[in-house]
Amino acid sequence: MLIGVVASLLFATACRQDMHVQPRYNPYAKTDFFGDGRSERPTIEDTVARGQLHIDQARFTGKIDGKDIDYFPIQITQADLQRGQERFNIYCSPCHGRLGNGHGMLVMRGLRQPPNYLDPRLVSAPVGHFFDVMTNGYGAMYSYASRVATDDRWRIAAYIRTLQMAENAPAPLAQQGANQPTTNTTAQPGTNGEPGGTAGGTK
Ligand code: HEC
Repeated sequence: MLIGVVASLLFATACRQDMHVQPRYNPYAKTDFFGDGRSERPTIEDTVARGQLHIDQARFTGKIDGKDIDYFPIQITQADLQRGQERFNIYCSPCHGRLGNGHGMLVMRGLRQPPNYLDPRLVSAPVGHFFDVMTNGYGAMYSYASRVATDDRWRIAAYIRTLQMAENAPAPLAQQGANQPTTNTTAQPGTNGEPGGTAGGTK
């Protein structure tokens, strides 16, 4: 009986081993199979992995000939702005604050304070600059390229523009925003303290 159990266990482990130890090469192992003796195959020339053909320079670098672009290389709809708002609140607001004024929670806890997005220099900065800061980092701020996908960086940049606009709208535009049909007749962009509230209203 005991022998039977042991034998079946042996059989079971053997089975397992068979499944685990399959013919394979360790990294950089030699092989006789290919003429060059390498088991690792070089990528085929002129092939590009799906989704990695980054020929649209403006969209993937935010620059053309090294200069920040000042337009959005993807279409920005209201849904994109909302996505930008969501991503901004996740990735940027901890330092920059939900209003972009630099009073994020991490700053309250002692981290370096970033500049206010309402700083005239940043209000007049081309949108490509915001994309570039997220992509490559800026001074003490590290890059967000590995965490925030390319098009989401544009959506965040669009949302930053919305924040700047909401607080700083030129009079005619503010008037236009106020004239949007709304249940609150005294609503003015940017006065309700909730940045998201005005994102759609000015469209
Ligand atoms: C961990 C804190 C932190 C987070 C999170 C953060 N930043 Fe920053 N950011 C900073 C600091 C600090 C500076 C100032 C850097 C300096 O001047 O050395 C800065 C600067 C900036 C600037 C101004 C660049 C200039 O021209 O002065 C922009 C724009 C900006 N950040 C955008 C973003 C965006 C967009 C995100 C989210 C994807 C983000 N930041 C996330 C800390 C942060």
